[in-house]
Amino acid sequence: MYTASAFSDPASLQAFVRDAPPRAPFRHVLMVDPAHFQVRHVINPHMEGMIGAVDQERAYDEWSAIKRAYESLGFPVTVVEGSDDWPDIVFAANQLLPYVDADGKPALVLSHMAKVERQGEVAYLAESLRPLGYSMHPLRTVLPLEGTGDAVWHPGRNLIWGGHGFRTDESSWEEVAEITGARVVPLSLIHEHMYHLDVALMPIDGNTAFSYRGAFDVESWARLVAAFPRLIEVPASEAVEGFALNGHCPDEKTLLLPSGNPETRRLAESLGLDVQELPTREFQKSGGSIFCLKNMLP
Ligand code: ARG
Repeated sequence: MYTASAFSDPASLQAFVRDAPPRAPFRHVLMVDPAHFQVRHVINPHMEGMIGAVDQERAYDEWSAIKRAYESLGFPVTVVEGSDDWPDIVFAANQLLPYVDADGKPALVLSHMAKVERQGEVAYLAESLRPLGYSMHPLRTVLPLEGTGDAVWHPGRNLIWGGHGFRTDESSWEEVAEITGARVVPLSLIHEHMYHLDVALMPIDGNTAFSYRGAFDVESWARLVAAFPRLIEVPASEAVEGFALNGHCPDEKTLLLPSGNPETRRLAESLGLDVQELPTREFQKSGGSIFCLKNMLP
């Protein structure tokens, strides 16, 4: 459901979020093996000056520690082979938007990547996942949509926070709402280092999220303020350079946090979260960290 009038004032937005149907957490982690990961083009500001700079052995160690962290929390991880044709395919958040359809069946919306350097990843990944039996839905339009990089689920609700401005086109959200049956609230991103919503908004539970005001236009920030009674701002340096908001809290208890973000760690611990720091320096050279290295499948 996409109802522009629901976003126009705080009370309507609160009701739109609160009355969204419940949604069971997605528990199945999808990752792409990083064997072919490297910075080979520049499509976001973090990649500038980084061509060829990835230490692939170190990247493999960082990626493996993330995989182990999910497994030890009890989340099964499926790994798909990468491809030398697609150095960014390791960012598995982007190619697909998994959801549960009206009949309760797991399904995938196929992304349409904004950057030509990544467009072939979608068909490659969809083909690799065919044996798992998900039904797959391409967008009718050819507008850009970058999967769960810009579609961030509200914990416990069938509602998507939809980022747009740099990669996903705002108009894609209406179609996503139609296909998935989920409610969608669009958010306009304005900071070029925070070009995906998943580097700007990190929900913890239905009432709590970490975020950074400078990533959003005034109206979008007001939507977040209205929807999350506990909206906690992290410092600019940790949000923009430290990828602090690209951590992931998969169980409302544990926060997998990119290392080197002491203030975010402190804030998370003060909420009672168990914080596990994971280094992601190599992937940050490409503009991504923990959240974008995986997708969650129902
Ligand atoms: N180099 C990749 C790109 O610019 C990084 C993607 C990070 N993904 C994310 N969901 N934030 O497309």
